[in-house]
Amino acid sequence: MLVLGLDTSCDDTAAGVVRDGREVLSNVIWSQHELHAAFQGVVPEIASRAHAERVGVIVRRAVAEAGVGLDDLGAVAVTTRPGLVGSLLVGVAFAKALALARGLPLLAVHHIEAHAIAARADHPDLEYPFVALVASGGHTALYACRGPREIVRLGQTHDDAAGECFDKVAVMLGLPQPGGPAVSRLAAEGRDGAVTFPRYRPGPDDPPFSYSGLKTAVLYYLKGVGGRRDGPNRADLPVSTADVAAAFERTAVDALVGPSLEAAAREGVRDLVVGGGVAANRVLRRVLAERAPAGLRVRFPRPALCADNGAMIAMRGAELFALGVTAPLDVDVDPYAVD
Ligand code: KG4
Ligand code: ZN
Repeated sequence: MLVLGLDTSCDDTAAGVVRDGREVLSNVIWSQHELHAAFQGVVPEIASRAHAERVGVIVRRAVAEAGVGLDDLGAVAVTTRPGLVGSLLVGVAFAKALALARGLPLLAVHHIEAHAIAARADHPDLEYPFVALVASGGHTALYACRGPREIVRLGQTHDDAAGECFDKVAVMLGLPQPGGPAVSRLAAEGRDGAVTFPRYRPGPDDPPFSYSGLKTAVLYYLKGVGGRRDGPNRADLPVSTADVAAAFERTAVDALVGPSLEAAAREGVRDLVVGGGVAANRVLRRVLAERAPAGLRVRFPRPALCADNGAMIAMRGAELFALGVTAPLDVDVDPYAVD
């Protein structure tokens, strides 16, 4: 059973083909980073126009790289929620047209649920129940994944997403977007403990994550309260920007690790699954592996399946198909979908 998965929810046009729900045959991504670089953020109108120009090319490439033909596909899965409305509409319209033209079932996928299960491609033994941490540019949340139809959000960030915070700190440090990889590369040259930033420590009734305080702490450290001083390379800065990046990265990572391990313990699961762009972070991978108690396996996807991609949409679609959950051809997008 081959499923084509298509994701145009934000600024990447992505398609992939997956066999039997777990075997990734192709995973093609056309990033729009260069189109949005001048604006320091994704411009929705530019994003949807670029998706419209690129989606046909990307789907053809995904099918070709999988070594199959359109006739071999068993279903088409597409992200219908959440995301930028114009961007979602392009992918959904394309998937509907393909499903109609080829007589294929259409599968409507929730983008975050796909991130939550993406690690499955690299861990074939991964089964429900598990806890998933999804940390990306738009979302930072914990899910109890109790079954394919019972993915329940346990809590999310009170304000900024973790990836968004990496991106903002990159701007402060004069680094390019996307900020996560750039900050992480610089942090690798920094000294541990040269600077300390306050870490969000949630109480029992608080949201598990918050990143606006850390973002502000880095800003104040670099510029002085109120931004009265110039840029990140102040001559009087007592430590290097690499030290600042290292301290920020460690604080940001620690703030993800604690609540995730607590949620896994509370749910009594044997697997903690991580997904989303921030899951590519090497310090997060190391610290989670170090701090996980005996008996808890921490499962990461390969880097190409962490960030937005079509293969994870195909995987989640295949799971829905196996349950008989197909979408009508008039299915709508839901840009602000939560669960
Ligand atoms: O999942 P994703 O591709 O898109 C969203 O759905 O948001 O995640 C992108 C986010 C960006 O904020 C990017 O800076 C962050 O993931 N990211 C990282 C790393 N690689 C990507 N953050 C920290 N460390 C990384 N290595
Ligand atoms: Zn995403």
